[in-house]
Amino acid sequence: MKGLILSGGKGTRLRPITYTGAKQLIPIANKPVLFYGIEAIRDAGITDVGIIVGDTREEIRQAVGDGSRWGIHITYIHQPEPLGLAHAVKIAQDFLGNEPFVMYLGDNLVKEGITPFVREFEQMRPNAQILLARVPNPHEFGVAVLEGDRVVRLIEKPKQPPSDLALVGVYMFDEHIFEAVHAIRPSARGELEITDAIQYLIDHGYQVRSHIISGWWKDTGNLDAILEANRILLEDIERDIRAEVDATSRLHGRVSIGEGTRVLHSVIRGPVIIGANCLIENAYVGPFTSIADGVHIVASEIEHSVILEGCRILNVGSRVEDSLLGRNVTVCRDEGKPRAVRLMLGDNSQVNLL
Ligand code: G1P
Repeated sequence: MKGLILSGGKGTRLRPITYTGAKQLIPIANKPVLFYGIEAIRDAGITDVGIIVGDTREEIRQAVGDGSRWGIHITYIHQPEPLGLAHAVKIAQDFLGNEPFVMYLGDNLVKEGITPFVREFEQMRPNAQILLARVPNPHEFGVAVLEGDRVVRLIEKPKQPPSDLALVGVYMFDEHIFEAVHAIRPSARGELEITDAIQYLIDHGYQVRSHIISGWWKDTGNLDAILEANRILLEDIERDIRAEVDATSRLHGRVSIGEGTRVLHSVIRGPVIIGANCLIENAYVGPFTSIADGVHIVASEIEHSVILEGCRILNVGSRVEDSLLGRNVTVCRDEGKPRAVRLMLGDNSQVNLL
C-alpha cells in the first residue's frame, strides 16, 4: 500500500499563526502535528508516501525532508490551489497508480495509530474503508449515516446532522476512487469533496466499509483542539531532565527539559515539556504546557499552553493560560504609567483580558 498525506490548506481557523506557518507544523508536545501522521503511516508498514503541499510547501519540505529519518520515501505533490480533498487524490493519481492507499489528513491525530485499520482493510479488501468517531459537534465534520455497519449516506458539514458519527481524516481506498473523483462536481464551497467521492462509490455499488473508532482522535484545526491534543499527548511523556536546575527550583512529576535550558528559582509541575536553550527564571510552569526551543519565561506564570520557538514571557503579573503563541512572540509587563495595555498584533490575533 501507499500513503497520501494532505498538508496543503490555508488553516484559516488558526490565524494569525497560519499567516506565517503551516498548520500541520504547529508542535504538539514539541513535535509537529504532521510528524505524528507520518509515524502512524510508517508504523503501519507503509514506506512509499506522497505529501500534498500548497503555499507552505517550502516550509513543509524543509521540516520533513525526504523521509529517510523515518525510513520511508517521500514524494511531494504540489496542489496549486486548495480545491478540495478529492482534488488532491486526482492530482496524486500518477504517484498512486493502481495501488491501494491510505489517505491521511495532515492535521489529524489518532492516538492509537492506524495499523489495525490498515490491516483490516488489507484483509477485507473493500473498495473503501472510512473511520468514524462519535462527536458532540458533528456539523463541523463530514457525517455518516449507517444501516447496521453499512454506510448509506455521507454529508459534508450538514447544518442538521443526521447522526453524531464524524468522518475521521483517515481513509483507505483502492483504484476505484479515481473513477469517483473524476465524476463528481465541486460543492457549494467550490471544492471537490472526498465525502462526495465516497458517496459516489456507495451509489455505484462499490463496497464501503466503516469502522467506529473508540480511541481518542482530533482534527487540530483550531485553538481548543490544539490545547486538547497537547493535553492528551503530554499524558504520555517521561521524566527526562537535561537542563541545569538550581537548588531553589522544584520539578514535580513528569517533566521533560532539553539541553542548554536553565531553570532558576522556579517551580515546574508536570506534565510539561520544555525544549533546548530556554530560560525559566522566577517562574511557574504548570501542567499541560509545551514550550519549544529558545523560549524565555521570566517572573511569570504559565499553564495549559503551547509556546513556539523564541518567545519571551517577561514580568507578566497574571498567569498565562489556555494560550497558543506563535514564534518569537513577546508578552511583557512594563512598570510605566499610565497603566494601559499596549499591543502590536498581527491581523486576526486574539487577546482576552481577564
Ligand atoms: C475534512 C473533511 C471532513 C472530515 C474532517 C476530519 O474537513 O472534509 O469530512 O470530517 O476533515 O478532520 P476540514 O477539516 O478539511 O474542513
